[in-house]
Amino acid sequence: MAQHTTYWPADRLRVGIQEAAAALAGGGIVAFPTETVYGLGGDARSTETVGRIFAAKGRPSDNPLIVHLARTKDVAGVAERVNDIERKLMEAFWPGPLTLVLPAKEGAVSPLVTAGLDTVAVRVPEHDAARELIGLSGCPIAAPSANRSGRPSPTKASHVLEDLDGRIDGVLDGGETGVGLESTVVRVVGREVHVLRPGGVTREQLRSALGGLADVAEAGSDSSAAAVEASSREDATMADATPRSPGVKYAHYAPKGEMVLIVGPQERLPAAVQRLADEAAAHGRTVAILSCSEHAATYRADAVLDCGSRAEPEQAARVLYARLRECDARGADYIVAESYPEDGIGAALMNRLRKAAGGREIHV
Ligand code: TXA
Ligand code: MG
Repeated sequence: MAQHTTYWPADRLRVGIQEAAAALAGGGIVAFPTETVYGLGGDARSTETVGRIFAAKGRPSDNPLIVHLARTKDVAGVAERVNDIERKLMEAFWPGPLTLVLPAKEGAVSPLVTAGLDTVAVRVPEHDAARELIGLSGCPIAAPSANRSGRPSPTKASHVLEDLDGRIDGVLDGGETGVGLESTVVRVVGREVHVLRPGGVTREQLRSALGGLADVAEAGSDSSAAAVEASSREDATMADATPRSPGVKYAHYAPKGEMVLIVGPQERLPAAVQRLADEAAAHGRTVAILSCSEHAATYRADAVLDCGSRAEPEQAARVLYARLRECDARGADYIVAESYPEDGIGAALMNRLRKAAGGREIHV
């Protein structure tokens, strides 16, 4: 399915938005920046267009897509109803990196978007270019992250081209994305907000916006387990074959090399990380270390990649996917990664690190 992919550069964003919007309105599939990661968008109402999105990504068809809207009021076009808790979350976090799973309005979007479920995931992105593009296109835009299935999500237009050049109609370059990790996906069940995927909006932020209106259920609590299971199929390329096999569902975000995550108090990390890196090097492997800024200068390996300070998990979130891609570019076949503290955006960061490591974790 080789085709020409138009590149709209950042210094001609205005023209790019107009041409990309016209492409979307005409049934095209176009990658665009959001505040989280780049998305690969297309008219959510067209089964043919949405089918091309799945094909370009190599994404399993049982994994539903998020519908992106330009304005909060457009939600009435795709969702059957919105309750008081959902309304409160929209008011607090839209536009922004929060996705709400809502009862779907029948026939509003292609059944491919919802993977046949009776719910639809919706968000209004905060990125100006994204909102303008969606508004101008006049379509609800279905958009998964603009990576090949199983690869780290793209945070720059060049990442999109690495994965999808010749497979999509165009890419709108809006520079680097801000958050660097995907949106938080939530579903309201009774008076509880279930976090199906941690992301750009933190649990602490959800709790404070909700006040006493609803509880935020912890991931892994019995009530949210089924919903998390449904959502964690995220781009898992092998999930179809063995959907319940542990570890398989973590195939997402993975670099090509084997990655292991070292978890423990900060003072114990350096010795453990260096020991593993040295062992792997002694076995002839090309070793990369994903390190916090505080330890980066002390490590010896084929590549030592600084992911930012432990005191600033926002920075680590912003650069993680680019660093994982760099591991591939440097030919690393063994990657040792340091854990980060799990509060705030650190929860989403650790979730992605765990997925990238495919469950390989060593506690020190
Ligand atoms: O930040 C983001 O959310 C980015 C940008 C482009 O907006 N998009 C993104 O899309 O990460 P994607 O397709 O890579 O992830 C969508 C997630 C998946 O975990 C999927 O299973 C979940 O949303 N999802 C979509 N529809 C759902 C539904 N009806 N019920 C439960 N989970 C759903
Ligand atoms: Mg994705």
